Amino acid sequence: MSERKALVTGATGLLGRQVFKGFGNGNWTAKGTGFSRADGTTILKVDLGNAEDVEKALDEFKPNVVVHCKFSKTRTPSCATQLIRSLGAANRFPDKVDADPEGTRAINIEASKTLARLCAERDTILIYISTDYVFPGRPGEAPYEADVTPAPTNLYGQTKLDGEKAVLEEFEKAGKEGMGIILRVPVLYGEAHTNAESAVNVLMDAVLKVQDGGKGVMDHWAIRYPTNTEDVARVCRDIATKYLKAKDRASLPRVLQFSSEDHYTKYEICELFAEIMGLSLERLVANTEGNDPNASVQRPYDCHLSTKALKDIGIDVSTQDFVGWWRREKRAFRK
Ligand SMILES: NC(=O)c1ccc[n+]([C@@H]2O[C@H](COP(=O)([O-])OP(=O)(O)OC[C@H]3O[C@@H](n4cnc5c(N)ncnc54)[C@H](OP(=O)(O)O)[C@@H]3O)[C@@H](O)[C@H]2O)c1
Repeated sequence: MSERKALVTGATGLLGRQVFKGFGNGNWTAKGTGFSRADGTTILKVDLGNAEDVEKALDEFKPNVVVHCKFSKTRTPSCATQLIRSLGAANRFPDKVDADPEGTRAINIEASKTLARLCAERDTILIYISTDYVFPGRPGEAPYEADVTPAPTNLYGQTKLDGEKAVLEEFEKAGKEGMGIILRVPVLYGEAHTNAESAVNVLMDAVLKVQDGGKGVMDHWAIRYPTNTEDVARVCRDIATKYLKAKDRASLPRVLQFSSEDHYTKYEICELFAEIMGLSLERLVANTEGNDPNASVQRPYDCHLSTKALKDIGIDVSTQDFVGWWRREKRAFRK
């Protein structure tokens, strides 16, 4: 079989690093792009806000598939930062996570739209990584099928949803439906450079913080489905292979969802980390308080993503066991 090429944006980030690795063998050749952490050789420095830079990367490498893992945090706080903020005394999702929402939207949505247009012009498949936070997560609604109308309750989810729409529209305009694919995933964990890179790994910091006399409060209400970055990488590769080979690509779904079935509150994850590390959780208080019905922003309670659309097209949706991974990979706990 001829060589297939994948370009991974955000390849210096938590997910992008694993996706890049995942395409690095077999019939695939991978190239990554990053920004501040790009080394300029395996990982190209490409400003995705600059269309000329993007065109150059596409024309030089000529990928069959682009996996778009980039998301600018210049103004939008990362999932991990949002989590840290949400741990505040009131334990409310911030009404405004961003001092400049319009600027953030412009940066992330425009970059995705431009990338989609350039990919469509070149007959290149684009997999856009999105989030479970496109759904409101109201009690009783989950699991969400991929075709349910999204209704995000925070800026991050709204920005990702607008990015989804921009990508699908660009491929539709070009008459290349089926080449623009959305893959929604929930909160991610895995090998990280710092705990703060992942909204799950960062909970180890919360456990460490209460060891030396400090006190903390941790959410024990919202349900999360921590999913391993290596598993997402495998699924991205399987999707790329499937859509690239498909003769009837336009009949394949445009929105896919992947998630682990393991579910925990953040407090339960802290309990697990403390148990694995032999640490005490005495000074971390579990906060079971749900949403204040009068708050202007309602935090998602359960955004569980159904993986049916992936299963229906024959893609393996199995995941590593969350507890097993952490017991095995204790070294992933950073100090
Ligand atoms: N992490 C999660 O729990 C989670 C959950 C659901 C969905 N997602 C989605 O998964 C994707 C990856 O998330 P992540 O947490 O892995 O992100 P991340 O660790 O923050 O990485 C972001 C990447 O984007 C790159 N980047 C930022 N600004 C750029 C620019 N102007 N031009 C080019 N590259 C730029 C960064 O490059 P440098 O670092 O080199 O500057 C980095 O490689 C995102 O789309 C996110 O929305 C993540």
